[in-house]
Amino acid sequence: MATPRTIAVAGKGGVGKTTTCGMIIDYLCRQKKGPILVVDADANSNLNEVLGVEADVTLGQIREEMAHAEQTGSIPAGMTKADYAEMQFNNALIEEDDFDMLVMGRTQGKGCYCYVNGVLKTQVDKYAKNYAYVVMDNEAGLEHVARGTLPKVDVMLLVSDCSRRGIQAVARIAEMIEEMNLNPGQMGLIVNRAPGGVLEPGVQEEIDRHGLKLFGVLPQDDGVYRCDCNGEPSAKLPDDSPMKAAVGRLMQNLGL
Ligand SMILES: Nc1ncnc2c1ncn2[C@@H]1O[C@H](COP(=O)(O)OP(=O)(O)OP(=O)(O)O)[C@@H](O)[C@H]1O
Ligand SMILES: [Mg+2]
Repeated sequence: MATPRTIAVAGKGGVGKTTTCGMIIDYLCRQKKGPILVVDADANSNLNEVLGVEADVTLGQIREEMAHAEQTGSIPAGMTKADYAEMQFNNALIEEDDFDMLVMGRTQGKGCYCYVNGVLKTQVDKYAKNYAYVVMDNEAGLEHVARGTLPKVDVMLLVSDCSRRGIQAVARIAEMIEEMNLNPGQMGLIVNRAPGGVLEPGVQEEIDRHGLKLFGVLPQDDGVYRCDCNGEPSAKLPDDSPMKAAVGRLMQNLGL
């Protein structure tokens, strides 16, 4: 299969990256654009909650096990390190009806993980080839993308709240992405939680001032808020709920 289109989100804490990702994934599933690989690359992973799926194994845990097996020489006899890594990795893939999911989990402190990190990268690259789309939820620092464990990003979505200061913060993240030479195919801004889905002129001004490209505006959505309060998956809200409908239009505009 051809290389997948990889979509990633970036932005400061709590602006709606995970919720947006969840709705993007739901959109791609509904449009039958799969197969889709979902990667939760936030150490504090919760994309599964937005999607309403169980995720009980992380690559972080697998990585620990691999490093432990390597150090203690407890890799099963007759297995190469690479075979063992592949077997472990297969266990970490969460298979749902409409998508597969990998949860990166926490990164540990001590010890040398060069070998396992390399193996992880090889495995992720190998797996990614089987998908039409890879959708990656990230934390603000973009750790796994920056380190190269995750595939190169085609579409980088910068998510911000609808405040002037939010735009200033996301502009700094855009600069960081440039400094890190991540070179996404395209990068643009999504302003989330705008009351009524309308952008205030002052905020638009700030966007222009930083030379950011606006991909779309997502409305404040009480349904999303209620899902969060009740512990329900917001990606499963009705398709015509305000934020979900806006994500659908955004995806269409981006030709995704
Ligand atoms: N358009 C919206 N309308 C109402 N609530 C929203 C909207 N978008 C996100 N939220 C709520 O805002 C909170 C933060 O959203 P989310 O977890 O998606 O942000 P995040 O950027 O992934 O945060 P973190 O940086 O902690 O990973 C959640 O409670 C979510 O339900
Ligand atoms: Mg998040």
